[in-house]
Amino acid sequence: MIFLTKRLLVRKPKLTSQDIAFYERLWNAPSVMRNVGFPKGLQVNREVVQDILIGQDASPFDQTLVVETRDTHTRIGECKLGRPCGDGISITDVKLLPEHWNKGYGKEIKCALCAYLFSQTSCTIVEASPAITNIASIKMQEYCTGIKVRDDIYSFPTYVRSETQNVHSVVYHIHKESWMERFSQDNSIALIPVISKITDPAEKQATCAKILHQLPAWFGIESATEEYISHCTDTLFYALQLNGEMVGFYAITRHFPAVAEIYVCGIIPRFHRIGLGSMLQNHVEQELRKNKTKYITVKTLSPRHPSEEYARTREFYLACGFEPLEEFPTLWGESNPCLMLIKRLVWS
Ligand SMILES: CC(C)(COP(=O)(O)OP(=O)(O)OC[C@H]1O[C@@H](n2cnc3c(N)ncnc32)[C@H](O)[C@@H]1OP(=O)(O)O)[C@@H](O)C(=O)NCCC(=O)NCCS
Repeated sequence: MIFLTKRLLVRKPKLTSQDIAFYERLWNAPSVMRNVGFPKGLQVNREVVQDILIGQDASPFDQTLVVETRDTHTRIGECKLGRPCGDGISITDVKLLPEHWNKGYGKEIKCALCAYLFSQTSCTIVEASPAITNIASIKMQEYCTGIKVRDDIYSFPTYVRSETQNVHSVVYHIHKESWMERFSQDNSIALIPVISKITDPAEKQATCAKILHQLPAWFGIESATEEYISHCTDTLFYALQLNGEMVGFYAITRHFPAVAEIYVCGIIPRFHRIGLGSMLQNHVEQELRKNKTKYITVKTLSPRHPSEEYARTREFYLACGFEPLEEFPTLWGESNPCLMLIKRLVWS
């Protein structure tokens, strides 16, 4: 996940059939693509879309990002965060499927792209070039304090002329100062995740307590939760914040040099299933690989137990690449059968 807005989530595309089908539809939609000079759409098939997505790297910049709704995870469009050039100008882009026009999503995304670029990069000007006929996009720029700086005509090279139409556009600039003046008081325009390492024992305990107490369906046995809180002081501890609000953590312990264990982890329920757990997992893995850790393990409730919540937890670990290793039916008492899972971190 790159950032959240009030209603939307922006993330990197995945190589799934759903994401590929979504891009095929968006990029082939004449009503969307005529605004950028392709009146018949891009006319790309699934293979081409797949090749484009395969070519992307892990950076959020200069690549297509999926925009989806936070409540139903409906893919509504794409956006781009341009990496700022030497003089601080970033180019952004937003394209939404027609059924999601006229609901304020464009302004919401554009404003969040500005928030991201002005807070996370050296960008001082956000630039976009809507076609002069594209009223909605022009309004989006103006909403974000954009001012018109020049007209432009984009001519396509001759070999694609039959598929394209030259675009008469207006170049808009959104200046950081004017955007900040209008929007900087609103902390919810873009919720941007930040992972930090916590070393202070009291801060580890406070974070662990704050998160676990919001997860009663998983951490309802008070004595066990208190034990996690008291013993997490000795763990390698990473916390995840969204605009300063603590929303999750991972605490890692180590029994042998090559093997680390997730001692306890959690994300508050309001932010489940939007990629924050896997973001923390990936971060922890990168850090552990630097220390030559070969394996990471975790103990959780076994599928012998009927808990639906823990069934979701196991789905998460499996999606992260863990494999079940062994069951310990009585380690946590007969009513809480334990499953140990393992993931290999290095292959040489
Ligand atoms: C386990 C936990 C840390 C995962 O964090 P999360 O942010 O909700 O998980 P993510 O959104 O990163 O999920 C990553 C992938 O895991 C899988 N997954 C996660 N939750 C799932 C669910 N409820 N059902 C099916 N698959 C799920 C999916 O494949 C998902 O990717 P997708 O959304 O692209 O399909 C979090 O749900 C949590 O805090 N749970 C309660 C506490 C807990 O279980 N702690 C561990 C105790 S051992």
